[in-house]
Amino acid sequence: MSLCLCGNVVTPAKRAETLREEIQRHEELYYVQAAPEMSDAAFDALMHELKAIETAHPELLTPDSPTQRVGGRPTEGFAQVEHVQPMLSLDNAYDEEELRAFDERVRKGLATDRSPAYVAELKIDGLSIALTYEGRCLVRGATRGDGVRGEDVTPNVRTVRALPLALKGGPAGRVEIRGEVYLSKKAFEKLNREQEGAGEALYANPRNTAAGTMRNLDPTVVAKRGLMAWTYQLVPPDGERHSEMLKRLSKWGMPVEPHWKRCDGIDEVIAFCEEWRDKRNDLSFETDGVVIKLDDLALRDRLGYTSKFPRWATAFKFPAQQATTLLKRIEVNIGRTGAATPFAMLEPTFVAGSTISMATLHNPDDVARKDIREGDTVIIEKAGDVIPRVVGPVMEKRPADSKPWVMWTTCPVCGSDLHKPEDEAVWRCDNSSCPAKLRRGLEHFAGRGAMNIEGMGESLIGQLADKELIKSIADIYALTAETLEGLERMGKKSAAKVVKEIEKSKGNDVWRLIYGLGIRHVGERGAQVLADHFGSIEAIEAASREELEQVREIGPVLADSVRTWLDEPRNQALVQQFRDAGVKTVGERKVAPAGPQPLAGKSFVITGTLASMSREDAQAKLEVLGGKVTGSVSKKTTAVIVGSEPGASKTEKASALGIKTLDEAGLLDLLNS
Ligand code: IVH
Repeated sequence: MSLCLCGNVVTPAKRAETLREEIQRHEELYYVQAAPEMSDAAFDALMHELKAIETAHPELLTPDSPTQRVGGRPTEGFAQVEHVQPMLSLDNAYDEEELRAFDERVRKGLATDRSPAYVAELKIDGLSIALTYEGRCLVRGATRGDGVRGEDVTPNVRTVRALPLALKGGPAGRVEIRGEVYLSKKAFEKLNREQEGAGEALYANPRNTAAGTMRNLDPTVVAKRGLMAWTYQLVPPDGERHSEMLKRLSKWGMPVEPHWKRCDGIDEVIAFCEEWRDKRNDLSFETDGVVIKLDDLALRDRLGYTSKFPRWATAFKFPAQQATTLLKRIEVNIGRTGAATPFAMLEPTFVAGSTISMATLHNPDDVARKDIREGDTVIIEKAGDVIPRVVGPVMEKRPADSKPWVMWTTCPVCGSDLHKPEDEAVWRCDNSSCPAKLRRGLEHFAGRGAMNIEGMGESLIGQLADKELIKSIADIYALTAETLEGLERMGKKSAAKVVKEIEKSKGNDVWRLIYGLGIRHVGERGAQVLADHFGSIEAIEAASREELEQVREIGPVLADSVRTWLDEPRNQALVQQFRDAGVKTVGERKVAPAGPQPLAGKSFVITGTLASMSREDAQAKLEVLGGKVTGSVSKKTTAVIVGSEPGASKTEKASALGIKTLDEAGLLDLLNS
C-alpha cells in the first residue's frame, strides 16, 4: 500500500486499475493515433509496475490487463468458427467509368436521380478479421476463412497492440467488429532485413506475410512481428449512418484509419480515389484501393446483396505502379524443377516506395513477344510484391546497335544443354543432379509453406549443396550438429537449434511432406487435398491415375504428374529414405471412403438456385457417388443441372453443344437412383 500526494491511501487494486487505464491510453495514443505522449522507457516503467503488482497479488489479474496480450503456449491448430454473418467480398471498379456505373446501379436501385452520400475509405491490403467483444472485453478473433467459417485465432489477435483488449465504451452485450490486420511497410522491411541477415528467403509482400503470421501457432512469434489493425465495420450495424459508426468505433478506442471521407455524391468519391492513387506511397501501410460504401444504412437495406457482394459498396482498385529504367542485362535462373527463367538486371530505380534492381521476365517466349533487349529502357511494374515485372520496352529509346535477346542454350550452373519441350514455353535443365535444382528443391522443401524448418535458409542450404554434404532432399535428416557446426555463420547453439527444428519437422502433417517433394503442379492446396483424401503417402503410391483423377479438385494434369513422379524408381527411393528417417508419411483421411460410385467418370455443371439443397450440398452428393462437378460447360460435361434463375451462358452453351439438362427433380432422381 502506498500514500498518494494528497495523503490518501492507494490500494494495490486501485493502483493496478489506474495503471491499466494509463497503459491502455498510451497504447491507443501510440498504436492507434500514432501520437505518443510518453517515451518508450516511461511506458515500460508503467508496464513493469503493473506486472509487479499482479505478481504480488495474482487475485488482481484480469484477462483484459495489458500484461496479458501474449499468453499461453503454442497451439496444436486452430478451431473452426462460424461467422455470425458471412464475411463477403466486394465487387471491383478499375476506373472512373466503372465507378460511375456503380453509382448508376445504386441510383437505379434507390429510384433516385441524385447521387447519394458515400463513405470512401482506404482499402487496406491485409487480411480481414472478425473481433467479438463481450462485456466490452475482446473474447474472440477469427480469420475470414471461406467467408462462412474461419479460424479462431484469438491468442494471436490479442497480441495486436492496436486492438484494445477492453472497449472504452459501447454496448456491454456481444458485438462483432470487423477490420483488417496488416503489417506496416516498416515492420515488413525490418523483417526482410532480418531474413536477409540470417540468409533466409525474403517474404514476397506484407499482405501474405501478415496472413501467414496470423496463422502462426505460436503467439510469441506473432507478438514479435508487430501486426497492426484498422477496423471499419460493426455487425450487425447500428445507428443511421456508416460515418457515425466509424466515429463511434474510434470513441470506443478501436483503430479506424483516419483518412476516410464522407463524400457527397460520386464526383467527390472519384476525386478521393484520384487523390489517394497518387498519395498512397506516403502511407505507413500498403493500400490497394478505396472502398466505397453507401453512408445511409437504411438505403443499404433497400439495395441488399447479390450472392457474393453487397450492392451498396464497391472497391476501386488502384492501377499497378510503374517506372522506366535501363535494363542492363538479362540473366537466367534455374528453378527447382529445372525451369530456366530469364530475369532482368536493372539500373536501380525507385518505384512504389522502394528501390528495384531486378525484375522477372517470365519466359523466353514472353521476352521475344515483347521484344525486350539488353540495353533497352523498359517499363517496370509493381503490384504489391517485392519482385516487380517488366512490362515492355520503350521503343523510342532503343539504342541503334541493339540486338534481339537469344535464350541461353546451356545451364548457367552445371553447363548441361537446356531443352524446351514442343508444347511448353519453358526451357529446362534436365540434369537431375544439377546443383541449382537440388538447391532450389531444398529451399522449397525446408521453406515456410512446406516443411517449415526454421534456420534452414538460403545461406545454409547453399553451403550444404556446394560442399556436397547433401545430395538429395532426404539427406537433411542425416545432418548432425557436428557437420553443421563447421559451416559459416553456424555456432554450436545455432547448429543445435537447426537439428532440433529438423527433428521437429518429422512430425509435420503429411501434406507438408507431399508439397515439399516438389512434384510439378502439386501446390499447397493440391497437397492438402491429396493428404485429406488418401491419408498417407503409401495410399497415394497405391492409387492409379484414374483413382487420383476421381478426387475432388484433382484434374488430369495433376493426377498425371503425381503418377509419373511416383513411378520413377529414384523418387520411390527418396520416399523410402524419408520413411526410414522417421518422417511422418501416414496421417488421417478426412474424406469418408467411397461407397458405390455409379456416377464415376461423369461430369456435371450446376447453374441457378436449387430449392431443396444448396449448390455445395448438391456437389457433395454427386461427388460421393463418384461424379465430378465443374464450373463450366464443355464437350465432356455429362449433364447441366438447372435450378431457378440459371446463368444464361451455361444453358446456352449446353444447348449449343447438345448436352442434356436436368431440372431439380431430375437431379433428385439421379441422386436416389
Ligand atoms: S468493407 C461487405 N472496408 O477488402 C463489406 N473492406 O474485397 C466488407 N478491406 O474482404 C468489407 N479495407 O478484407 C472493407 N476499408 C475497408 C477495407 C476492406 C480492406 C478488405 C476486406 C474485404 C476485401 C473486399
